[in-house]
Amino acid sequence: MAKLPILEFPDPRLRKRAAAVETVDDEVRQLVDDMIETMYDASGIGLAATQVDIHRRVVVMDVSDNKSSPLVLINPEITPIGDEREPMQEGCLSIPEFYADIPRALKVHLEALGRDGRPYELEAEGLLAHCIQHEHDHLEGILFVDYLSALKRDRIQKKMQKRHKQMQDA
Ligand code: NI
Repeated sequence: MAKLPILEFPDPRLRKRAAAVETVDDEVRQLVDDMIETMYDASGIGLAATQVDIHRRVVVMDVSDNKSSPLVLINPEITPIGDEREPMQEGCLSIPEFYADIPRALKVHLEALGRDGRPYELEAEGLLAHCIQHEHDHLEGILFVDYLSALKRDRIQKKMQKRHKQMQDA
């Protein structure tokens, strides 16, 4: 397994729309394993392939307390259940150190392929439902800051650019 570098906002590559996975082969399984390692190493609860500059519809997440139950979503399709929405604080490995309350569907139905290539479905709510919607957004090139006002987003963008400059100068 290998740790992969994570793209950070406002990198334009985070805006690419990911393509469907046609076959879950060894290469895809390797990507899944590398993404799980990268997510755990970064102490994240979710990671989309887009964030590691691979533009295929692959997501890994783990919202469990002991970080031992990774969930793999290949070609995820999500449908909100009901009209209820709730805000929840979100962060993102591509926008470190920034958090915001983002309203999303409280419950969703998910259909996806697992690491073994087999289709599965589940109903999620609360944190898992939020995480699924956040990661699915990444595959569409959407970031949580897109739901904030332009003013807030610009402020975060400036701070991120400053951070990247400091990292370059260091
Ligand atoms: Ni994210």
